[in-house]
Amino acid sequence: MENMKSARKDEAGEVGSDLSEQIKAATKENHVRAENTQLMLSYQKGQITVTQYKVLLCSLYEIYTALEEELDRNCSHPAVAPIYFPQELSRVESLQRDLEFFFGSNWRKKVIVPAATQRYEQRIRKIGKQNPELLVAHAYTRYLGDLSGGQVLGKLTQKSLGLSGTEGISFFSFPGVSSPNRFKQLYRSRMNSIELTERERAAVLEEAVSAFEFNIQVFDDLQKMLSVTAETVDQSRSKAAGFQSSPI
Ligand code: HEM
Repeated sequence: MENMKSARKDEAGEVGSDLSEQIKAATKENHVRAENTQLMLSYQKGQITVTQYKVLLCSLYEIYTALEEELDRNCSHPAVAPIYFPQELSRVESLQRDLEFFFGSNWRKKVIVPAATQRYEQRIRKIGKQNPELLVAHAYTRYLGDLSGGQVLGKLTQKSLGLSGTEGISFFSFPGVSSPNRFKQLYRSRMNSIELTERERAAVLEEAVSAFEFNIQVFDDLQKMLSVTAETVDQSRSKAAGFQSSPI
C-alpha cells in the first residue's frame, strides 16, 4: 500500500528527494504571502514610488552585505562551496551604485533600515558563525527570487520610476548570468549535491521558511515606516497651514 502511494506520488511529479524540490514545496505558501504584501502588490500594479524603492534598496543593501560577507567567509565550507557564485550573483556592488544614484555620494549616511531588517541581518550573521550549512536557505531565497520574479520587478521599477537605461536599477541585472533559467537549473543541481544529514536538511527547510518570513516582515516594516513618515508630513503640513492662517 505504502509503495503504491509513493509510486503514485512520483508519477504525479510531486515532491521528490532533491533539496531544490523540497525547498520550493516547503516555501510555496510563504512565497504567495510574500507576493501579497502591500509593497509587492504596489509593484505588481506598476505603482512603486521612488520613496518605496529607496527604502527597499537600503534594506536590501544591509541584507546582502550580511549574506555576502557570510558566504565569503564560509566559501570553503562543504555546504557553501557548491552554491558559492560571487562573480555571477553578488549584489552588494550593484546596490551601492543604485544607492549612490538615488542618495548621492554621501549615501552611506542616509541608509536607514527598520527593526525587521536588523533582525534578518543578525540571523544571517549568527548562522554564518554557528551553522553555515543553513546559509543555502538564505542564498536560495534571495538569489533565486532575484533571478525569477525579480526580473519582472526590475522592468516594473524602470517603468514606474521613468528611468532610462540601467541607472538606479543595477540591482536587478545580472551581467554574469546570460540565461537566468539555465543558471537556476545549475544552482538547483548544486544545491542537490550538498551532503546533509536528515536533521540538517530539515533545518535548512525550516530556515528557508524563516528567510521568506524575514522578507515579509521587512516589507511590512518598510510600509509602516513610510505610512508614519507620510502621516508626519501630513501633520506638519496641516500645522504649517494652521499657523499661516492663525492670526498670531
Ligand atoms: C520564483 C514571481 C516575490 C522568492 C518565482 C517565479 C515567479 C515569481 C514567476 C518562478 C516560479 C517557477 O519558476 O516555478 C514573484 C513575484 C513576486 C515575487 C511576482 C512579487 C511581486 C518573491 C519574494 C521572494 C521570492 C519577495 C523572496 C524574498 C522566490 C524564489 C523563487 C521564486 C526563491 C524560486 C523558486 C524555485 O524555483 O525553487 N517568483 N516572486 N519571490 N521566487 Fe518569487
